[in-house]
Amino acid sequence: MSGSKANGTVQVNEEGQGSTDLPMLEGSIGPKVIDIRKLYAQTGHFTYDPGFTSTASCDSAITYIDGDEGILMHRGYKIEELASQSDFMEVCFLLLKGELPDAEQKEKFTHDITYHTMLHEQLAQLFRGFRRDAHPMAIMVGVVGALSAFYHDSTDINDPHQRMIASYRLIAKMPTIAAMAYKYSIGQPFIYPNNELSYAENFLHMTFSVPAENYKMSPTVARAMDRIFILHADHEQNASTSTVRLAGSSGANPFACIAAGIACLWGPAHGGANEAVLTMLEEIGSVENVQKYIDKAKDKSDPFRLMGFGHRVYKNYDPRATVMQQTCHEVLDELGLKDEPMLKLAMELEKIALEDPYFVEKKLFPNVDFYSGIILKALGFPTSMFTVLFAVARTVGWVAQWNEMMEDPGQKIGRPRQLYTGHAERPFVPLVKR
Ligand code: SDX
Repeated sequence: MSGSKANGTVQVNEEGQGSTDLPMLEGSIGPKVIDIRKLYAQTGHFTYDPGFTSTASCDSAITYIDGDEGILMHRGYKIEELASQSDFMEVCFLLLKGELPDAEQKEKFTHDITYHTMLHEQLAQLFRGFRRDAHPMAIMVGVVGALSAFYHDSTDINDPHQRMIASYRLIAKMPTIAAMAYKYSIGQPFIYPNNELSYAENFLHMTFSVPAENYKMSPTVARAMDRIFILHADHEQNASTSTVRLAGSSGANPFACIAAGIACLWGPAHGGANEAVLTMLEEIGSVENVQKYIDKAKDKSDPFRLMGFGHRVYKNYDPRATVMQQTCHEVLDELGLKDEPMLKLAMELEKIALEDPYFVEKKLFPNVDFYSGIILKALGFPTSMFTVLFAVARTVGWVAQWNEMMEDPGQKIGRPRQLYTGHAERPFVPLVKR
């Protein structure tokens, strides 16, 4: 357990069974942990934590979140500073290697990523096997999983050099795959990457250019795209990152692990929420209907939830939502859409919700997904592409966390246990007697 140190013990007392001392561990900042690795051997008991609300699955030095204070840091740098003063290539380097790059390191890293953006030409055939109306996330899961059929020279997970090549390939190729999924869905030809462009510019180019003319790049839009990538890059041990770690713990190749992460991110409770927010806003339709939907969200008998609100960790404002809201206003102003009805509706919904005792008591604030969809819609993306963009950005976080796990000498396969509530042993009943 690199980076943690012992800090006292806690006692577990079981009536009639005596007590067991469990060691406490502490990291650099944040909650201490109770080390239960020997609990079952010492007591014959498991802990019980469905949804992992109080469980640390690993130790990590990549991202720190303080949900009560609304703090998010990557390698000690606050997300607000990274979003306003850095760019996505620097953040990728920081997440992967632990430090911000100097000018020479940044130039080489950006070059290395840029020169991995093309896909093996045979992969274009894979897209043509999908229906044109396939959800782009379904295509992305399939194509990313298939990368392991093409890049055999970077699937040896025990070779640090191959792990880094696979990591670079994934970061570099995700925008290309995402743009191809979009082009395929609208029947336009695939657009190749252009090495003269930045990461965000290249993605916009591959998505919105056509052979007849290049996309007219707006520096504000490109900067907003880059910032949206930064805001989604990593987020501690969220569901999709935990999925990537669990898949990787079995020794699966990195492409298969990232495909698993993409599949998990797709859920509306997780990365699929940005698409669900737009769908919800379209369903609400006007400010007059806002209270009706807030009442639905509060009604326990109604499964409806206010999408883009609430978070397992943040019991304060999601710092990414604050930056996203600012970016939303910048982009819509630039595009002459500041009176965009969706934005006005979202702001009214946020205002009413944050004044409602239900949301205040349950500490349900807007999360990263609440405003991102409005920006992405303004940039010209269909709602079906919103979670795809989240996956493009989160790939660097997934591969950074996967590498951290693979470099941990204590790494072992993840295998949780259960509280069994089924039948005790009973004799088999032959069919004739059933
Ligand atoms: C992301 O983990 C990460 O870091 C994720 C992420 C990342 O970067 O990787 O930040 C990205 O996934 C952001 C979250 C996007 N999801 C949504 O916006 C979907 C809507 N939100 C929720 O479904 C919910 O808030 C979760 C899933 C985000 C969090 O759920 P929890 O932590 O399991 O909380 P819970 O479901 O136990 O809710 C606590 C209470 C419940 O009421 P009680 O049973 O206690 O009476 O709050 C209520 C819930 O009913 N509640 C909501 C609500 N979210 C929680 N009520 C109405 N609307 C909501 N959105």
